[in-house]
Amino acid sequence: MMDRTTKALTGQGIALSFGGIEVLKGLDVQFRAGEITGLIGPNGAGKTSLFNCLTGAYTPQKGSIRYDGQPLDGLPPAARASRGIVRSFQHVALSPDLTVLENVMIGVARNHHAGWLHAFLPTGRGRREMAGMRAAAMAALSELGLAQAAEKLPAQLPPGMLRLVEIARAIVGKPDVLLLDEPAAGLNNAETRDLMRSLRRLASPDLVMVVVEHDMDLVMSICDRIYVLNFGAFVAVGSPAEVRADEEVVRIYLGSDDE
Ligand SMILES: Nc1ncnc2c1ncn2[C@@H]1O[C@H](COP(=O)(O)OP(=O)(O)O)[C@@H](O)[C@H]1O
Ligand SMILES: [Mg+2]
Repeated sequence: MMDRTTKALTGQGIALSFGGIEVLKGLDVQFRAGEITGLIGPNGAGKTSLFNCLTGAYTPQKGSIRYDGQPLDGLPPAARASRGIVRSFQHVALSPDLTVLENVMIGVARNHHAGWLHAFLPTGRGRREMAGMRAAAMAALSELGLAQAAEKLPAQLPPGMLRLVEIARAIVGKPDVLLLDEPAAGLNNAETRDLMRSLRRLASPDLVMVVVEHDMDLVMSICDRIYVLNFGAFVAVGSPAEVRADEEVVRIYLGSDDE
């Protein structure tokens, strides 16, 4: 059991249907601060849908979601983001006309940090807010080894770096919960290894980090705990070693042809 001081994002009995089709079948999750949790499973298993329920993009028909004991049910995505629950998307969604630095600065605004609106006003306070947003964005880029790319446009960067820019934008507001949906999608092996190292470095005792990934080996190498989803239900939860040894998991992964 987790000790009482560990913060966690928890879901109880999360059930989601579309047109009578049950996509999530009453899921219980406990994603703990200080751990990297992997969420794996075949295409269509419901991984992105679960993230959408956690961020408020989807409203589950049943169940309850809490962060640090506080219910989040009914709060829209912006309100959850301002409470420190942020995500990256399966498809990179950067603004092509903004520099890398400006794209990351959007993350500050998106997370609704007090005073960000003033940054756009031509006042002394506005200039200070803008400088603060810039500094925060630079710090996030530096943390991921991207400081050199700050003034470039997204089109000038390889896919691996674009992924990291997305993650920089997600962490710029110092989130409590970071949900990453297939961060390695479209990356080559070297880029994937760099990304995994960056994620490992981001891990901290106060951060809940959940990584949806298709590739088992990759998840095994960075995660503390893994949830395996298949057809909207968990078939296994445990350490990488436990999950790797699970017969049902082996069957799903050896039996599917999209891996
Ligand atoms: N907005 C939606 N409307 C209808 N069906 C959806 C919607 N979102 C997801 N689904 C369905 O839910 C199932 C799980 O999808 P998804 O969560 O994207 O899986 P994964 O991310 O594990 O690949 C799929 O069958 C998908 O078609
Ligand atoms: Mg998905």
